[in-house]
Amino acid sequence: MNDLMTQIEQNKKEIESSVVTNKEELEAFRIKYLGTKGIVKAIMGEMKNVPVEQKKDAGQLLNEFKIFTEAAFENFSNAVESKADQIDFNMDLSLPGQPINIGARHPISIVHNKIISIFQRLGFSVAEGPEIEDDWHNFTALNLPENHPARDMQDTFYISQNPDWLLRTHTSSAQIRAMEKGELPLRIICPGRVYRNETISARAHCFFNQVEGLYIAENVSFADLKQTLYFFVKEMFGENVKVRFRPSYFPFTEPSAEMDISCLICGGEGCSVCKRTGWVEILGCGMVHPSVLDNCGIDSKKYTGFAFGMGIERITMLTYQVKDLRLFSENDVRFLKQFTSAI
Ligand code: PHE
Repeated sequence: MNDLMTQIEQNKKEIESSVVTNKEELEAFRIKYLGTKGIVKAIMGEMKNVPVEQKKDAGQLLNEFKIFTEAAFENFSNAVESKADQIDFNMDLSLPGQPINIGARHPISIVHNKIISIFQRLGFSVAEGPEIEDDWHNFTALNLPENHPARDMQDTFYISQNPDWLLRTHTSSAQIRAMEKGELPLRIICPGRVYRNETISARAHCFFNQVEGLYIAENVSFADLKQTLYFFVKEMFGENVKVRFRPSYFPFTEPSAEMDISCLICGGEGCSVCKRTGWVEILGCGMVHPSVLDNCGIDSKKYTGFAFGMGIERITMLTYQVKDLRLFSENDVRFLKQFTSAI
């Protein structure tokens, strides 16, 4: 028993005079005193040599010693931790800092936001609709009844459980939903993702983004349509860009047109991007067909309107001179980080 007491006293003194200044010394302390082969365990092992009548006192002593050692370890550990938080003035301040990766907006988002802000300045507001649509809103209400050959212009993903549902092929469906609400005059743009069953290539994808616009009021004319789109083109691509309209066909507009701008790459001289024509097509447009207005419960004798639709990928490719539209959905950071908000 006396022997045990002396051992404990000696070790206590040693612990009190221990110096622990770093993690290595802290670990050495732990192993020496509290490890499986450490002093506390070793002294405990000697309990078996203590005569029975002294076992109680010896146990108490040992327990105190264990608590004392653990508390010492805890103190050293706290001291080492708080030291680690302090600034090390011996470090080399000329070393480069940790690199910070600053994220960047996706080029499609940048162009999407710019298109929206241009039309908002003309008084258009944003209207949205679902990506899974029914046949009525995507086709039938737009003057594209079942079996109409023009449905072939937009190869469609139908949903097998219910052929009345499909992935919308354009955001014109959101325009139908807005017209059905019947609040006139109506001046909206409908941005969003659309889906077509296309073979994926540098110029086509099975999903892409659109912005479609719609203006319905009394006495809206084709001149209003042209003026709105002229303004858009100048704001989007600059003052020097030329614009031309070509007659076209869409079941939901009459008359219909496609709008081209002078090629941004060659300035109209002719190059591979514009297929040597000097022009690139950027959108479809026209006066809303009276049947579409009637389908939505709008009096086509009183109201007229224009509509247009463009692919954001196409505008982005022209803006940044990107040659392959697959880059937009591959999520390769080396590509994505090249774009800043300024265009
Ligand atoms: N909805 C047409 C498309 O996706 C674009 C368009 C919209 C054309 C409005 C004319 C008027 O191809």
